[in-house]
Amino acid sequence: MGSADESSLETLIEYVLEKPKYNQINRGLIESIARTELAKGRKPKETRKAVLSKLHQVGTAYFSQKHEYGRWESTLASLPTDIHSTEVKDFCTDVMRAHYSTDERLPILEDLYQTILSTIQPIPSVLDLACGLNPLALPWMPVEEDVQYTGCDIFADMIEFLNTFGAHFGLQTEFRSCNLLNAHFDQHAKVAFLLKTIPCLEQVEKGFAERLLDAIPADYILISYPISSLSGKLKGMQENYTDQFAQLIAGFDWTYERFEFSTELAFLVKKS
Ligand SMILES: C[S@@+](CC[C@H](N)C(=O)[O-])C[C@H]1O[C@@H](n2cnc3c(N)ncnc32)[C@H](O)[C@@H]1O
Repeated sequence: MGSADESSLETLIEYVLEKPKYNQINRGLIESIARTELAKGRKPKETRKAVLSKLHQVGTAYFSQKHEYGRWESTLASLPTDIHSTEVKDFCTDVMRAHYSTDERLPILEDLYQTILSTIQPIPSVLDLACGLNPLALPWMPVEEDVQYTGCDIFADMIEFLNTFGAHFGLQTEFRSCNLLNAHFDQHAKVAFLLKTIPCLEQVEKGFAERLLDAIPADYILISYPISSLSGKLKGMQENYTDQFAQLIAGFDWTYERFEFSTELAFLVKKS
């Protein structure tokens, strides 16, 4: 990139970061998308629109309700520190309703984690990639009491809330803002979650998922796909995603198991 292009890139990133709807998003992801859109050589107004639209598709579109981190943190402060108490589970359920991905998992929450994870217990460590609000499903996961749970997503305010959540229960949790398209992993985990995220990443960088799977430092990867789209239509997603997964995994010498739930299709891949 020349210096004129670099200055357009900076201007575009700053334009995005000035918008309250997008200003919590990881700068690295904004930059990746801005570079791709600038390279298409369209008019500045169209380029700006395309960047915002892509960020909406991969991130902000998933909020089914306005997130209320301040209110949630105040409620959290008054809750018991036993993560398995009914009050805490009710709170977690309420918060998970604010994100489509966890909201549509609520009816299958217990079944999904028990069915899949009980086959690989004990689970001392989890890496939750592009986690959204899924760490609030921890009370339903059959993991060790002192599990090391690390996770990342693109929203800084969500990450701050998740760190407050983990600290309240004295858990060994660590959440970071990240751009998975450019991530470096420094910690091995027994299982990594890549839940309903591959379609999102592939929207920005086609063919990226294969490299990511290869790089994830875990014995198992739990990969899932949504069975209904954000607009609620089914459109043969189950068959499409089963085919996509088969293609994705074809180049690896790994074994896997397939699990089907009413709102989610999951594959537990054994890497080692
Ligand atoms: C479909 S949601 C899934 C959320 C969560 N894994 C779950 O299943 O509940 C996709 C998530 O990917 C995150 N995301 C999108 N692009 C990302 C990127 N490049 N790096 C990290 N996270 C990303 C979004 O913010 C969103 O939380």
